[in-house]
Amino acid sequence: MSEVTFFSGESFPLEMHKVRMVQRIHLLPVEERLKCVQEAGFNTFLLKNRDVFLDMLTDSGVNAMSENQFAAMMQADDSYAGSETFYRLEKALKRMFGMKYFLPAHQGRACENILAQVFVKPGSTALMNFHFTTTKAHITLNGGAVEEIISDEGTKITSAAPFKGDIDIAKLNEAIKRLGSENISFLRIEAGTNLVGGQPVSMKNIKEVSKICRKNGITVLMDASLLADNLFFIKTRETEYKNKTLNEITLEIASLMDIIYFSARKLGSAKGGGILVSDDSLYLKMRTLVPLLEGFLTYGGMSTREMEAIAVGLDETLDLDVISQTPIFVEALCKELLARGIPVVTPAGGLGCHIDALQFCDHVPQSQYSAGALAAALFIASGVRCMERGTMSEQRNPDGSEHLATMELIRLAIPKRVFTLSQIKYTADRVDWLFKNRHLIGGLEFEEEPEVLRFFFGRLKPVGGNWPEKLAAQFRKDFGESL
Ligand code: F0G
Repeated sequence: MSEVTFFSGESFPLEMHKVRMVQRIHLLPVEERLKCVQEAGFNTFLLKNRDVFLDMLTDSGVNAMSENQFAAMMQADDSYAGSETFYRLEKALKRMFGMKYFLPAHQGRACENILAQVFVKPGSTALMNFHFTTTKAHITLNGGAVEEIISDEGTKITSAAPFKGDIDIAKLNEAIKRLGSENISFLRIEAGTNLVGGQPVSMKNIKEVSKICRKNGITVLMDASLLADNLFFIKTRETEYKNKTLNEITLEIASLMDIIYFSARKLGSAKGGGILVSDDSLYLKMRTLVPLLEGFLTYGGMSTREMEAIAVGLDETLDLDVISQTPIFVEALCKELLARGIPVVTPAGGLGCHIDALQFCDHVPQSQYSAGALAAALFIASGVRCMERGTMSEQRNPDGSEHLATMELIRLAIPKRVFTLSQIKYTADRVDWLFKNRHLIGGLEFEEEPEVLRFFFGRLKPVGGNWPEKLAAQFRKDFGESL
C-alpha cells in the first residue's frame, strides 16, 4: 500500500491480503504455445484457459473473491419472487449510491441493451467520453450514433494529465449546440475509461458535465463498471477528496447522475449487473424490459449466490486497501516496461497495463491489426493472454470499410488480487524480449469475420506467411530449454 515506506528506498506494491485458495496454472513450451494460438485463429479470446499461463485477458468475472463473499453465497435465497437476497443487495447499493431504485440485469451489456432500447431513437446521438465495445454495438443496433467528446489528452499515449477520461467541456457545449438537446439520447460518463487505458474521470469534470446536462434537459448516466479504480484515483489524485471517505465520494457522484449502471463482473467482483435510478418515470420506462429480457424483478437473470457475493463485494469496494490493489500493480508493471523503453499508456491507470501497438509494431500497418498481432505474438513469447483493444475491436463503417481505432492497444489486465509481483516481473521480462525481437512480428487478416462484435470469435491468419513460426524459433534459440 502507498502508506508503507520501505527502508531500502525501493518502491513496490504490497499486498493487503493473503492467498487461501489457489488455481494451478501451466506454462507450455513455446512450440505448443504456437500451436494453441494457431488453433485459436490468432484470436486470444479463442484460446483455451488450460493452455494459458497468466490470464491477463480481462478483469471481468475473474477478480479474486474474499472469504466473506464466499460465506455470503451460502445464505442465498432462491425464491423466484421477493427473494431476501434481492433486498440485501438493494440495501448494499442504496448504502453505496443512495439512489431510489435498483433494476437487476445479468451483466453490464444487458443494462446497455435496456438503456439503448429505452433511450436511443433512430437518428439520435449518444455523447460520451469514450465508447465501450458493447455500449456502441447496442446503440448502433437501435439506430443511434455515438460521439466521443473526451479531452484531447485522453487519447494521447504519453501524458501527465491525472484524469485522461475527462470530457472536454467545449466539445460538449459545441455538440449540444450542433445536435440540439432533443436529438441527444443521453450523455454517458464511463468511469475508469476502458478503451483509452483505464483512465479516470475527475469529480470536477463529473460536476461540470452534470450541470450542463441538467441545464439542457439531457439525461446523464454513468457506466460505473470500472468505478472502483476511478474512486481510488479521485481519492489519491484530486486534493479536495483526499480526506473524504470512498462512500462520501460515491454518494456525491450518484447525486450528479440520473442513472448509474454497472457490470458486477467488475464492480463488486462477482457476476451480474444492474441499473440504479431515482426518478420514478425513468424507472418505470426501464422496468418493463427487465422481466421481458432478463428475469423477474428480484433477480434479473443473476444467480442469487452471485447477488449475495456482489452485495459483500460492493461493501469491500469502499475499502481503500481492497481497491488500491489493481492500480498499484498496474503502476508496477508500467514502471517495469517504461524502464525498458516499451511504449505504455501513461499515467498508469486502472484495469491493466496498456501497450501502444502502433509504436511497438511500427512496421505493421494498422489495417493489419497491429494490436491483434502483438497480442498473438505475446502469447507465443510468454503464455500470457492479453486482449486486443484496437481496430479488431472496432465495428466496420456502414459502407464496409475498415474503421481504424483511435488507439491501437493491447491490454494486460490485472484483475483484483490475482497476480503476484513475480508474475508481473515475468510478464515484463517476456514483453522486453518481444520488444527486442519485434521486427519478427507481422500482420494479421480475417479468415472468418463476424458482423457484430467480431473480436470475440473472429478467426485470423498471418499476413504473408510464417512469422509466428519464426518468432517461436527465435524464442527457442534465445532461451534454450527454458519454458
Ligand atoms: N462497460 C464497461 C466500461 C466495460 O468494461 C464492460 C465490460 C461493459 C460495460 C460490459 O459489461 O461484460 O458485464 O457485459 N468489459 C469487459 C472487459 C468485457 O474485458 O473490459 P459485461
